[in-house]
Amino acid sequence: MFADRPLVAGNWKMHKIVAEATAFVREALALKPDLDAVDAVIFPPFTALSAAGEALTGSRIQLGAQTMSDAESGAFTGEISPLMLLDCGARWVILGHSERRAYNGETDAGVNRKVKTALRLGITPIVAVGESADDHAAGRAHAHCMAQATAALDGLTPADVARCVVAYEPIWAIGTGQSDTPAGANDVMAQIRGCVAGLERTRILYGGSVKPDNIGAFVAQPHIDGALVGGASLDPYSFCELIANARASAYR
Ligand code: PGA
Repeated sequence: MFADRPLVAGNWKMHKIVAEATAFVREALALKPDLDAVDAVIFPPFTALSAAGEALTGSRIQLGAQTMSDAESGAFTGEISPLMLLDCGARWVILGHSERRAYNGETDAGVNRKVKTALRLGITPIVAVGESADDHAAGRAHAHCMAQATAALDGLTPADVARCVVAYEPIWAIGTGQSDTPAGANDVMAQIRGCVAGLERTRILYGGSVKPDNIGAFVAQPHIDGALVGGASLDPYSFCELIANARASAYR
């Protein structure tokens, strides 16, 4: 691990209605995860943000959203303003997830605008980058991810870059059960860390089929500061196990 504290981020994607979201929070808090030395954030869908935020009141688990608009308000039907996220208690946002890039037309330039808006409003962006299976097979993972990170962070001062988090999520590993090797991921992440001034001070997460039984091996790598973990299988027990195992590996 490179940073002081690991970060475990739970991306719920399009799962959980309000009652399920509050039950998750209640059950996770009942398990009393040790958050003295680990940061943990959940990313419910927009409709459950407010209820999840209320259920989290007084706890050290933090709240984030899965995307946002780069505008604060306006005639943008269906969009969600960063001010609305703040109003729900969210202080984090995932930007440029590969599913948003693939299905919702998210571009590097759009991610860059959103990163700037988030930082201006005090929301911590987790900027996701990652290569396709073809790029991976052709040895283009490094070049692809460095280009995405450079574009997403374009025009930021090193101090602002340091306020971001980057998530390296190889597309072929997301939701497939086939994670990258810790050493392979570390290698790409070391290159990403070197490509923009300020990244030497930020956390870089690995994402893509991280489970309680492999998170420790990732966090044990020098450039891996935690994990972005997604999907329907993210239950309160596995979330707390991820936190515990990240902690154990980071502070061996
Ligand atoms: P996964 O998803 O853990 O299901 O691979 C990670 C993500 O998409 O952020």
